[in-house]
Amino acid sequence: MRKIGLLIAICGFLSGCARLDMQDQPKYKPQRPSEFFADGRSGRPEVEGTIARGNLDEDTALYTGKDEKGLDLEAFPIPVDKVLLERGQQRYDIYCAPCHGRIGNGLGMIVRRGFKQPPSYHIDRLRTAPVGHFYEVITNGYGAMLNYAAQVPVRDRWAIIAYIRVLQLSQNANASELAADVRGKLPQPGQETAEQKAALKMQPLVPGDSDFHNFPANPATPAGVPGAFGAGANKPSNQPERK
Ligand code: HEC
Repeated sequence: MRKIGLLIAICGFLSGCARLDMQDQPKYKPQRPSEFFADGRSGRPEVEGTIARGNLDEDTALYTGKDEKGLDLEAFPIPVDKVLLERGQQRYDIYCAPCHGRIGNGLGMIVRRGFKQPPSYHIDRLRTAPVGHFYEVITNGYGAMLNYAAQVPVRDRWAIIAYIRVLQLSQNANASELAADVRGKLPQPGQETAEQKAALKMQPLVPGDSDFHNFPANPATPAGVPGAFGAGANKPSNQPERK
């Protein structure tokens, strides 16, 4: 036994020292110096004319919404035109309106059914907030709001923000600044359509409201779907009723 043990020890010792294979490559780790090249660096400069592939993301303002000092941008980093605004309206109506409402008053359908109510975009603080703040909220979330970085790519974020500025102006504009023909189309006070009147007094729904009935206060769990519940779900016999 002792001889075998000694043999194993010697083998181990030899293989430790004499092993010269792929595990001991004379390679350089990133940024290591080198005596091989005249400039003393192991990393080689890119070949002239090299073109970046994938995302270069070198426009800091565009990708972070911050200026060189790390402060929220005050101005849009891309030109704002009609195409961008229309894209922003479409994306806003998909990703933001369910909570923030079509006009940004914070009374979207999910909120009217009971989700935490976000602040209106028409409060002074958000009307004067720099565009970079909105970019930050979409990119990283804010309080109870999750971020929308995965759903909304960078340019669409700016498109949405441009459209939020439109919404803000729409709720805080001076009618006398409108062109005469447009001003003529405004409803006179007291002559709003039924839809406009309803929008003006929109409030979060409470369980007593007539169109709240599809969302039962005590939804049942459908049989065979652990933890799932919703309107019209069958009440399973093997689970206690939700309280
Ligand atoms: C699921 C509901 C929901 C969606 C969808 C949603 N938000 Fe929000 N948002 C909230 C809530 C709730 C708050 C308030 C969070 C808090 O104060 O804790 C909020 C707050 C905000 C604020 C205010 C931050 C501040 O300074 O007070 C902005 C701006 C905002 N959201 C922008 C957006 C934009 C842009 C989108 C679409 C890309 C969006 N939100 C989508 C729920 C939502």
